[in-house]
Amino acid sequence: MKKYALGMIGLGTMGRNLLLNMADHNYAVTGYDKDPKMLNILEEVGQKHNLKGFSELKDFVQSLELPRRIVLLVPAGAIVDNVIKELEPLLDKGDMIIDSGNSHFTDTSRRAIELSVLGFHFFGMGISGGEEGARFGPSMMPGGDKTAYKAMKQVLEDISAKVNGEPCVTYIGPGASGHFVKMVHNGIEYAMMQLLAETYDVLKTGLGYKTEEIQLVFAKWNKGRLKSFLMEVTAAIFAFIDDKTGNLMVDMVKDEAKSKGTGKWTSQVSMDLQLPIPTINEAVTSRDLSKFKQLRVALSAAFPQEITLPENLQEIEARLEEALYFAMISSYAQGLHLLWQASNTYNYELNLHEIAKIWRGGCIIRAELLEDIYQAYIDKPDLEHLFLDASIQIKLKETISGLKKIINIAMDNGIPVAAFASTLTYFDTLRTKRLPSNLIQAQRDFFGAHTFERTDEEGVFHALWNQTTL
Ligand code: 6PG
Repeated sequence: MKKYALGMIGLGTMGRNLLLNMADHNYAVTGYDKDPKMLNILEEVGQKHNLKGFSELKDFVQSLELPRRIVLLVPAGAIVDNVIKELEPLLDKGDMIIDSGNSHFTDTSRRAIELSVLGFHFFGMGISGGEEGARFGPSMMPGGDKTAYKAMKQVLEDISAKVNGEPCVTYIGPGASGHFVKMVHNGIEYAMMQLLAETYDVLKTGLGYKTEEIQLVFAKWNKGRLKSFLMEVTAAIFAFIDDKTGNLMVDMVKDEAKSKGTGKWTSQVSMDLQLPIPTINEAVTSRDLSKFKQLRVALSAAFPQEITLPENLQEIEARLEEALYFAMISSYAQGLHLLWQASNTYNYELNLHEIAKIWRGGCIIRAELLEDIYQAYIDKPDLEHLFLDASIQIKLKETISGLKKIINIAMDNGIPVAAFASTLTYFDTLRTKRLPSNLIQAQRDFFGAHTFERTDEEGVFHALWNQTTL
């Protein structure tokens, strides 16, 4: 019986495409899916490689070379646990399981411990790049069991996206670091998408541009410093016509954004680590607020927007480009700051320059700007915050007035720009030497005797505030 080098469980679009990608690189691969439809599709699209899958898990497992390398690409959550449970009695010690879905990092930590007790190698790996990426070169973030990683290294490097000939995959670190980094990647993705949506709204509502004009603006910016995958995708969306109506498809899409949770997890973790990422938080919040359609419709009747179109459209368009550039830098900065903190807290041993490097190609947040970010971390691998880098500071200084201008225009006209506004407030907070937080401490001590620290002396103090006489 033919033995295969690698097996994939879950032959949905992502799993199938990743398998085809491996087959393109001459790996003998096979797959397993409960759904016969998925097996048929695999055979159909994999004709060139004579790809065949299994509908019986036992047959699939027995068809693999030892030690087995099994990649899971199934929906995150209980399904991953169920698949692992079904696999366990069929495996031999030393076999490897690579969970490549968007699993929560705490699930990955738990599974790694459970499986190592049983003698199996397990690692969690984030994959980014969507369907196209999986098929022709994703960015991959594997972390955890090093033995399993070593056994997969060559395959992963072969199938990954390449930038200047370098693979967009690297060993991220121990434990669940791979899934943690992918989660933060997605948090940044949420922020960038929200910023692009707000930019669209400023152009459409604030400047009165038609979608065709907006398309041209995005396509133009994508030729400059804002060049990125999401920018390119967004420009393409604005040109897409709906067959059914002949209208622009973007106008036919309901304005209620959904999510699968990775952005929310990023915000939750940032709160736990007390490491704020406000632009990402606002992106999550804005998606959630968009779902209150009826409420929005009712309130829009009670408080209609009153838009005053400005005269100097070209000038404002240029300022908007600056605002977007500033906010994109800040989105990466917030995500990377969270990684810096998580690395310290969870001992992930993250190399932020390596992470910036593998995000330059294949993934959803790939962008020209990542070259500069990569350089900043090359220059100083332990950089605490991207805003401390001298060349990034020049970019921030060049564009901050655009950000302020756009926020002012949006607020004057009642256009919601939560991500832009929080970007500015985040920056202003971080660059303020003395914040009014002394007052918060005084208030806490006043009503709860929570104590405070003094500026001129070490130690904790309590004052009898209510004895104040004015
Ligand atoms: C990627 C994407 C991918 C997926 C998101 C969508 O990196 O390829 O991030 O993982 O498209 O999970 O997330 P939402 O459904 O939450 O928007």
